[in-house]
Amino acid sequence: MSLVYLNGRFLPIEQACVSVMDRGFLFGDGVYEVIPAYGGHLFRLMAHLDRLDASLAAVRIANPCDRAAWRDLLQTLVDEAGAGDHGIYLQVTRGADIKRDHAFPVAEVKPTVFAMASPLHAPDPVRVEAGASARVMADTRWARCDIKAITLLPNVLLRQAALDAGDDEAILVRDGEVLEGSASSLFIVTDGVLVTPPKSAMLLPGVTRDLVLSLAERHGLPWAERPVSEQALRTADEIWLTSSTREVMAVTRLDGELVGAGRPGPIWRRMADWYQACKAELRTGGIAHEYARAGCRRNALRVSMQLPDQGLRARAARIPRACAGADS
Ligand code: PDD
Repeated sequence: MSLVYLNGRFLPIEQACVSVMDRGFLFGDGVYEVIPAYGGHLFRLMAHLDRLDASLAAVRIANPCDRAAWRDLLQTLVDEAGAGDHGIYLQVTRGADIKRDHAFPVAEVKPTVFAMASPLHAPDPVRVEAGASARVMADTRWARCDIKAITLLPNVLLRQAALDAGDDEAILVRDGEVLEGSASSLFIVTDGVLVTPPKSAMLLPGVTRDLVLSLAERHGLPWAERPVSEQALRTADEIWLTSSTREVMAVTRLDGELVGAGRPGPIWRRMADWYQACKAELRTGGIAHEYARAGCRRNALRVSMQLPDQGLRARAARIPRACAGADS
């Protein structure tokens, strides 16, 4: 782990501290994003920032940064993290109040803004080829699963229950419909058609999900967004789970039974190839328009690597004060 960003400063993680009065700590009152970066390039940045906007609006926290500021901040973390691939975690909470009260703070409180980069290892090829095992579980989450809230206790308990049962992921079912994994979006393939549940308040609008659908469209693979019954899941030819960190995973065992032939299916293989091609395109700068849309100041912000501290201060100084968070 290299530097993290907290409220206007880049600093070593051991020095990054937030108040015990922070509403993220006391109430889970905040939202987050996880964005992969391949070869120094943020993947699907605009889609993640769109979803961040939606999550912040839903919980009534004003976005502390504009697009360019987010991009500068996150790209600085990626650059500082060095070679290799990284997963960027960012979190915005409502900030620290002077007392614990469920109601929003009466006085103006600045949101707490935190972000860090962690090494992101490509999924182990042996495990990818074996596929994942999943267990169907009752969805015990709330009714606003479309918000990427840091309040993740049900997801944590569901994932752990799946692990305790010897499986990799929990697939969540509510009112007879399967929705998504505890930390992943869900697809099934039946008779050559790729199907995923439609977006609703009951599931997170996955960025990888949208990319998979656009890859299907681009390559002429039939697809549909429609409700998926538990029965349809259990009789599907293929089941996939997708996320920014785990990419496109085939599920080859469901509740201990083989899915299809018990191996990742042929349509999964095509999608996995298209997905890897997309990542490779990003590595060579082929998806640079994502930056252009962000009003990118990437080159203008290049700093001397001989002067890392000054450089970081300079980069932090360019992030607007509004983005700097609570104690700046
Ligand atoms: N989770 N659904 C849920 C409940 C998730 O937590 C995630 C991702 C997804 C997939 O979304 P995306 O494709 O945008 O990563 C779907 C992240 C990775 C996490 O919480 O760590």
